[in-house]
Amino acid sequence: MHEIIESSLAEERVFQASKSFRMQANMNDPDIYKKAEEDFEGFWASVAEDIDWFEKWDKVLEWKPPHSKWFLNGSLNASYNCIDRHLSSKGDKTAIIWEGEMANNRTFTYNELFYSTCRFANALKELGVQKGDIVTIYLPMIPEAVIAMLACARIGAPHSVVFAGFSQEALAQRVEDAGSKFVITCDGYYHKGKLVNQKEKTDNALEKLDDIEHVLVVNHAANSVFFTEGRDVWWHDIEKQVDYECPPEHMDSEDTLFLMYTSGTTGKPKGVVHSTGGYLVGTAISAKWVFDLKDDDVYWCTADVGWITGHSYITYGPLLNGATVLMYEGAPDYPEKDRFWSIIENYGVTIFYTAPTAIRTFMKWGEQLPAKHDLSSLRLLGSVGEPINPKAWLWYYEHIGDKKCPVVDTWWQTETGMIMITPLPGITPMKPGSAVRPFPGIEVSILDEEGNAVPEGYGGYLAIKKPWPSMIRTIHGDEERFIETYWSKWGNDIYMSGDGARTDRDGYIWVLGRLDDVIKVSGHRLGTMEIESSLVSHPAVAEAAVEGKEDEIKGEVIVGYVVLEADVPVSDELKEQLKGHVVDEIGPIARPAAIVFARDLPKTRSGKIMRRVLRAITNNTYPGDVTTLQNPEVVEELKRKVHLSD
Ligand code: PRX
Repeated sequence: MHEIIESSLAEERVFQASKSFRMQANMNDPDIYKKAEEDFEGFWASVAEDIDWFEKWDKVLEWKPPHSKWFLNGSLNASYNCIDRHLSSKGDKTAIIWEGEMANNRTFTYNELFYSTCRFANALKELGVQKGDIVTIYLPMIPEAVIAMLACARIGAPHSVVFAGFSQEALAQRVEDAGSKFVITCDGYYHKGKLVNQKEKTDNALEKLDDIEHVLVVNHAANSVFFTEGRDVWWHDIEKQVDYECPPEHMDSEDTLFLMYTSGTTGKPKGVVHSTGGYLVGTAISAKWVFDLKDDDVYWCTADVGWITGHSYITYGPLLNGATVLMYEGAPDYPEKDRFWSIIENYGVTIFYTAPTAIRTFMKWGEQLPAKHDLSSLRLLGSVGEPINPKAWLWYYEHIGDKKCPVVDTWWQTETGMIMITPLPGITPMKPGSAVRPFPGIEVSILDEEGNAVPEGYGGYLAIKKPWPSMIRTIHGDEERFIETYWSKWGNDIYMSGDGARTDRDGYIWVLGRLDDVIKVSGHRLGTMEIESSLVSHPAVAEAAVEGKEDEIKGEVIVGYVVLEADVPVSDELKEQLKGHVVDEIGPIARPAAIVFARDLPKTRSGKIMRRVLRAITNNTYPGDVTTLQNPEVVEELKRKVHLSD
């Protein structure tokens, strides 16, 4: 992280969208920030007008810290807002362009999305799904993933999408925690040309769970799969039997729209609960102003629908705005490393939203690859998921955006639901590496341990001081953890994000990264404790600790320090086995880059692992005073081992 901090401190250049861009922008009134501050509730009430309500709310906000209710007594439906309300004017407009890894493609107009979603919703009903049932969706990047989400929303069944790349163990844990009786999956999908047997992973996960009623299976890869009689149903079979008329459920503003599992500082992922009304208001307006979505845009967000970015800015935000959304199934380097650029050229993509890790990878591959393609359709670029270093920002701006596209660096989280800190391209000048300023109506502060605002230039905790519509409502089944994690540091009315940040003399915000035991590997959020639990579940392992190590491309990579059981011989095979074990337990994204065998871990005299010291060892920084350790000699030993391959 240090390099990123240092380089951001040095970055002074300021860029601004062109005058013509600013003139046409959806939001170009610089007073919007002041207006939102002066009349906080009035501001959110006015942007809520962009949503269609069956029954209008009678109160904007009820704030009983840390619980908020937004748009009280309003009733609405998310799928109606994403689809039905556009049909009269945009029925034949393309809603989804899907490109498969094998260059096969499918498109859905808004009319077609309507019919597919209604049928899917009726299929769910046919299988017994009722309003309030949590449905787990375990699908890769195929249109049915979006359709399934919207179908759940249509009938008032909260969805819980589990990233398709998570392992069967991770799926089982999330299905169980959510208490899902229904799971939507597919036969398989291709990743870098290799078949992933998604149905088999699903079957293995569900084997240990008793309460599964039905598994709805999308046929995507023509993979021959095992079917459990009475439980498993093909989507293409049931699709033919159900009607396409499915009136949308009238949902209360505060009814749960979905759960999204994310990593925290304990071993167990938490199911972040999002509401319907507030979430839709927040994602609709942020997509409209940050991405400047227009009717003729082709918008592409490269995230996976299995993460919050895919929820808010592939599915809900863009479709609420009636946009054309591109979805790509596969990898950026399949079959060649210019796949993204050929997609942009082929479909005339105008707005492109990706992660810094991807940008740094493209830099490594070289600017000759984008230069081979006509990227002139692009008019706005976005970045999300981890701090973007100025060098990557500038490369993106120059080589992808041809120095004419504003770059919006958007800071937010699974818990915030919507973009919280960002430039507004029609208003704010940008500095490479800074997420700029809070979205109108969002109040951010940078605080010290005691909750005092830190002076300009100093680092502190990134905190949010006022509620916002799309905020996390609770953690599914764990209200205590909800309060403890986010609302206990300075009292129950200030949200603790877990990130560090600082402001510069112009008031620009620079996000510095996580301050807790959450790490971001290629922008993917993982808890070190989760990885530690999976390492210690291996019979050869007595003790394990995991730290993030700075990485030029991925931001951070995982280093696992492992103390083996007595008599287990160390070997390179065992290292590989342990890496593979973590992949089996969590998924390929959690694969440690290095395993370090240790005789012991740095510990206090009372036997607690000294994380601060381990973090310093991992990143070759000053570990502070180590003389109080029970075993100071391990510091040098571990340092030698971890930096052996540098
Ligand atoms: O550390 C911050 C980082 O990603 C974390 C949230 O991860 P997740 O819930 O998976 O959501 C990712 C997509 C919104 C944050 O706590 N993060 C996200 N965006 C940025 C960022 N760090 C710096 N700059 C960003 N733009």
